[in-house]
Amino acid sequence: MNRKILVTSALPYANGSIHLGHLVEYIQTDIWVRFQKMQGNECTYVCADDTHGTPIMLRAEKEGITPEALISRVWQEHYDDFAAFHVGFDHYGSTNSSETRDFACSIYGKLQDAGLIEVRSIDQYYDPVKEMFLPDRFIKGECPKCGAKDQYGDNCEVCGAAYTPSELKHPYSAVSGAAPEMRSSMHYFFRLSDPRCSDFLREWTKSGSLQAEAANKMQEWLGGELSDWDISRDAPYFGFEIPGAPGKYFYVWLDAPVGYMGSFLTLCEERGLDFEEYWKQGSETELYHFIGKDILYFHALFWPAMLEHAGYRTPTRLFAHGFLTVNGEKMSKSRGTFITARSYVDHVGNTEWLRYYFASKLNGSMEDIDLSLEDFVAKVNSDLVGKYVNIASRCAGFITKRFDGRLGKSDRLAEIGFGEWAAGNFVREAYEARDTSRAIREIMRLADVANQYVNDMKPWDLAKQEGMEERLHEVCSTAINLFRILSLYLKPVLPALVAAVEEFLRIEPLTWADFETELPAGHVIQPYQHLMTRLDPKKVEAMVEANRESLKPAQAHSPARHAESQVHHQGLLETVSIDDFMKIDLRVAKIVSAEAVEGAEKLLKLTLDLGVCTRTVFAGIKSAYRPEDLVGRLTVMVANLAPRKMRFGESQGMVLAAGDGNGIFLLKPDEGASPGMRIK
Ligand code: MSP
Ligand code: ZN
Repeated sequence: MNRKILVTSALPYANGSIHLGHLVEYIQTDIWVRFQKMQGNECTYVCADDTHGTPIMLRAEKEGITPEALISRVWQEHYDDFAAFHVGFDHYGSTNSSETRDFACSIYGKLQDAGLIEVRSIDQYYDPVKEMFLPDRFIKGECPKCGAKDQYGDNCEVCGAAYTPSELKHPYSAVSGAAPEMRSSMHYFFRLSDPRCSDFLREWTKSGSLQAEAANKMQEWLGGELSDWDISRDAPYFGFEIPGAPGKYFYVWLDAPVGYMGSFLTLCEERGLDFEEYWKQGSETELYHFIGKDILYFHALFWPAMLEHAGYRTPTRLFAHGFLTVNGEKMSKSRGTFITARSYVDHVGNTEWLRYYFASKLNGSMEDIDLSLEDFVAKVNSDLVGKYVNIASRCAGFITKRFDGRLGKSDRLAEIGFGEWAAGNFVREAYEARDTSRAIREIMRLADVANQYVNDMKPWDLAKQEGMEERLHEVCSTAINLFRILSLYLKPVLPALVAAVEEFLRIEPLTWADFETELPAGHVIQPYQHLMTRLDPKKVEAMVEANRESLKPAQAHSPARHAESQVHHQGLLETVSIDDFMKIDLRVAKIVSAEAVEGAEKLLKLTLDLGVCTRTVFAGIKSAYRPEDLVGRLTVMVANLAPRKMRFGESQGMVLAAGDGNGIFLLKPDEGASPGMRIK
């Protein structure tokens, strides 16, 4: 009996680009879905952009466009990125859809009817300049524990302390810079503390819907009392207004998972699928959510509780995965390892290389997975090019040249060490369990057997020997059959490559059942054409270089940080921390001599007295000052700027001047300052 399976990946936020971390999730989901489809199961894969919330609203404002315009642009970018990596959604929607709105409102209504919604007043920081309540991540200040400056409203990145925004010292709005005020406002809560919710969640946790690691986490969360969940936000907010509550909007995390339903309904309307069959309570279909471990809380607590009490089925299982590290470390912009999907496509090219590498690492657990760039190159070249493609490239030529493209009789696979593998379904079990690393290990073992066979039979020698024509035909036909079965096993991982193989072999799209058959004698194949090139490590280096922070304008690490850098500084530079500022050694300096520089149109050579030493600086101020007018006056210099060799000598610092193209204005401290004084 064919299974009916609905699969989702988490909905990526519409305020940033897809990066390789995201792709860990979408690629693994896609592999599993393709595998299910090859099994003949009715498997449907939906996803959507997650479009609501404060960061998206502020970013659109900063760009001077509507949020709708922003999310439609990002939608297209995300869609193209996923397509480039062969992530084959059956539908890719948006949470900003009427379908998602309708479900969000009706689920909310049912929770209200069940007495699970409560309204109460909360105190929250308000930005009086921007006239909006501030999410925790948009408030900064001094850490109440260690005093570190410029920490976010929820936790300190220096000492790791967690706190509430009201505990921050000297708080300021990351949006406008203004000091926030505490104000009260009515908020809507989902009463997760109600015993109906916690009792249900305890049962649900036991039902086998979670990986062991996730179930342990749940045990921990359910051990204490669950807090009610604040599901409303005040205007201005980009999202869905709550029915019967003007000026109140659903918090983005309320409608995000509802987007799974919205996206699926759109597909149902397109394809005539039965929505009810999949989502009604007691449904016999299967529902799986692939998610990162960071969003387990939302998917394991809020989401099943919402579904249960709104009268829908709950997920069959959550498949949570770990985070991507690159070369053993957190992805980093300064190291160039925060790699966007687009830059991979631009610099490395073949996206199936990355699919293969991730597949070889993923094992269905919540452990983090590492992309070692060196290992990536080595593995692609040795496994895919050196082992897999090599089998076809060594044997297909003989079939074309000597036998008109016609296959001959094949050796019995069982007799060459291949039988056990072909019949055994090891690969199928590994894929089903999402242990693709095991599947790849099995497949590569099989590729070794196939290569060993070719090495032993030496078709290139047979081709030169009298009377060995028939044996040559058999050996090459056998190798092509081995290659076909390997292709079948790799198809969930390498869909585009295997499509090319299907064309080369002139066969129908491979399905799983095909492993039990072989291409018969007389079957005609196409001449072999190159299937895959080697990965040149220089391409990977170029990709890393292109992602290095210094070459690129700031990009989102987190939604809050992004919005902040976009919004805060109308025309000004990025915020720097006080620590960054303190690295600059600014000093009062006395100009003890000033002279024109021969051959330099704009420069004056200044000798500056810093109290403890003197410095020579070449300053581009000749157009604005006569040397003799400068001698004896005080100014400000950067004393620790790296010295710079110039044509006329070494410049050992910089004097500070204002200027906008219409003049140069040297700085001067107030009366009383003396050479060498620090400026801060
Ligand atoms: N919008 C929410 C999900 C809503 S689902 C109803 C969100 N978006 S996200 O863009 O931040 O992340 C999307 C998915 O990518 C999440 O499952 C997240 O865990 C995953 N990943 C994001 N960065 C990742 C890594 N560096 N490594 C692995 N997965 C990562 O969360
Ligand atoms: Zn701290």
